[in-house]
Amino acid sequence: MSLELATAGESHGPALVAIVSGLPAGLVLDRDAIDADLRRRQQGYGRSPRQQIEADEVEVLAGLRHGRTFGTPLALVVRNRDHKNWTWGMSPWPPEGEPEGKGTKPVTLPRPGHADLAGVQKHGLADVRDALERASARHTAVYVAAGGVAKALLREIGVDVSGEALPEAGADPGAVDEARQDRDTLGGRVEVRARGVPPGFGSYARREDRLDARLAAALMGIQAVKGVEIGDGFALSGLRGSAAHDEIVRDERGLNRETNRAGGIEGGVSNGEEIVVRAAMKPLPTLMRPLRSVDLDTGEAADALVERSDVSAVEALGVVAEAAVAWELARAAREKFGGDSVGDFVGAWRAYLERIDWTARGS
Ligand SMILES: Cc1cc2nc3c(=O)[nH]c(=O)nc-3n(C[C@H](O)[C@H](O)[C@H](O)COP(=O)(O)O)c2cc1C
Repeated sequence: MSLELATAGESHGPALVAIVSGLPAGLVLDRDAIDADLRRRQQGYGRSPRQQIEADEVEVLAGLRHGRTFGTPLALVVRNRDHKNWTWGMSPWPPEGEPEGKGTKPVTLPRPGHADLAGVQKHGLADVRDALERASARHTAVYVAAGGVAKALLREIGVDVSGEALPEAGADPGAVDEARQDRDTLGGRVEVRARGVPPGFGSYARREDRLDARLAAALMGIQAVKGVEIGDGFALSGLRGSAAHDEIVRDERGLNRETNRAGGIEGGVSNGEEIVVRAAMKPLPTLMRPLRSVDLDTGEAADALVERSDVSAVEALGVVAEAAVAWELARAAREKFGGDSVGDFVGAWRAYLERIDWTARGS
């Protein structure tokens, strides 16, 4: 049994869509909880005025009745309200009538740090917009919606996932104000923690099964993420082994650790401690004081595209990273416990916990 996610959607197209397959039947979804995550993704100091246009809400087109899954593919939609300003420019079909609104002129000034130049070269495109519309992080909205579904599934087995920006760089309002004044951008770091994950998610058997590799790929799959660490990650490289590992003790919880430098994963397998992962985000590439580029039309030196943009999106990344980690953990949970109904899934989890004689910390 495997949980799968397919998505489509452009930044200023009509909508973002996701199809989630592999869910058990009988999972109760809470629309308000998913919408609350979508709102959290839109917030944070340093976001662009686009966030005032959008008021993201999830719509469900299939796979759900009266708030319960059928165990069939679930179709999620998040509409782009801003599309009303781009109906000609981003019309899926050849547009009718005179050009009006935004996106009517081809973009020929690729931004350093964005997918613009590599995208047009790769696909043979004449208009950078045909690359940037999908490369944009706008579609992380529908990943957050899918992450909300994953979190609902994880809650059934006592797993809670939360992500937030670390209080530095782009999460510091003072630094964001200064960068905005200088027409510059910032990055930053986020941390995601998952509590209640039992030992045994992931596997050391094949590299693609390793939970650490999967979480790293899930986080690296988010726009602008350039570094990922699990537990004490990079800092571990400077320590002696005696100071780097988490000694095993026996206490009222069974086999336990007093430290968690490994971030809850050893050998690519969850070890029952809290899962702790961090991701580093580079400064956003769209600058109001543009970097040097070349006009693809004329071949002449020119300033890069300036388009409405965030100064910092690190708080939003905290929410997107939370969704990505939840998704990957839910996928690992489906592989481990299977089941066509939530009852089967939860029953397999209970039987497993009994076999390994393990209880989550704090439960
Ligand atoms: C939540 C979020 C919001 C973002 N907002 C912007 C933005 O407003 N402007 C921008 O230039 N890049 C933004 N980015 C980053 C770009 O999408 C990203 O840098 C670009 O797609 C190139 O991909 P890469 O940085 O992974 O190489 C954002 C990323 C995230 C995760």
